[in-house]
Amino acid sequence: MSKITEQQRITVPEIRARKGGVPIVSLTAYTLPIAQALDGAVDILMVGDSLGMVLYGMDSTLSVTLDMMIAHGAAVVRGSKRAMVVVDLPFGTYQESPQAAFRASARVLAETGAQAVKLEGGGEMAETVRFLAERGVPVMGHVGLMPQSVNVVGGYRARGRDAEEAKRIFADAKAIAAAGAFSLVIEGTVEKVARRITAAVPIPTIGIGASPACDGQVLVVDDMLGLFQAFTPKFVKRYANLGAAVEKAARAFAEDVRERRFPALEHCFGVKRAAPRRRG
Ligand code: KIV
Repeated sequence: MSKITEQQRITVPEIRARKGGVPIVSLTAYTLPIAQALDGAVDILMVGDSLGMVLYGMDSTLSVTLDMMIAHGAAVVRGSKRAMVVVDLPFGTYQESPQAAFRASARVLAETGAQAVKLEGGGEMAETVRFLAERGVPVMGHVGLMPQSVNVVGGYRARGRDAEEAKRIFADAKAIAAAGAFSLVIEGTVEKVARRITAAVPIPTIGIGASPACDGQVLVVDDMLGLFQAFTPKFVKRYANLGAAVEKAARAFAEDVRERRFPALEHCFGVKRAAPRRRG
């Protein structure tokens, strides 16, 4: 007798096997309702530490805490059934040592139910990536523009414009892949460099402001939905203007309340509805 099985989540080996195949589709998600809306469309829901800027209005991602990532990660897992969920390790929770990274990752995986963590860094993080991968923590790397290093590099400009920087990003990507990451985000990097990396590493690359040649693409969901209005990076394509739609709905509600059109009796308790009129 055949058994009806629940829809399984996309797994780490499935994503790993997408190298060079059908492009991987990813969006960030931070809340349950957005995760529910995206789950059927994307392969990976990334709970990015960008939530500090787009949800909390912070100036950078540096003040995001592990507890914040765990709370949002758990909400995204509860709101999804099919997509793989990857949670960012926030600044200060993994750079110090592989052991610190393991403790933070173990909390994320155990307390959210996510399948993997993502961390920023190149060659200097390779030992940590290896330490985690060998101990059962699937790791997604993140090279190129690394927002957690904004104070060192002095801004969010695109990376890899000069030969030396391009060479370093290339070497970073190779080191993270060789250390056992199952996939790699390339952010804000000159197209040719992202293309070369994609051709050179055996794991799928997921681009954001990178190259159409990447094995997948990710956008910050609030950017592509038009919810984050402070600025729109060059690499964003807007697919909706929800910020304007929310404002329009709020104005309509306000007008209804001020004109006493809401609530109508049908929204009230203990009020009998008029019986439906009969035909004929
Ligand atoms: O923090 C984030 O949202 C990210 C993705 C854009 C890749 O790192």
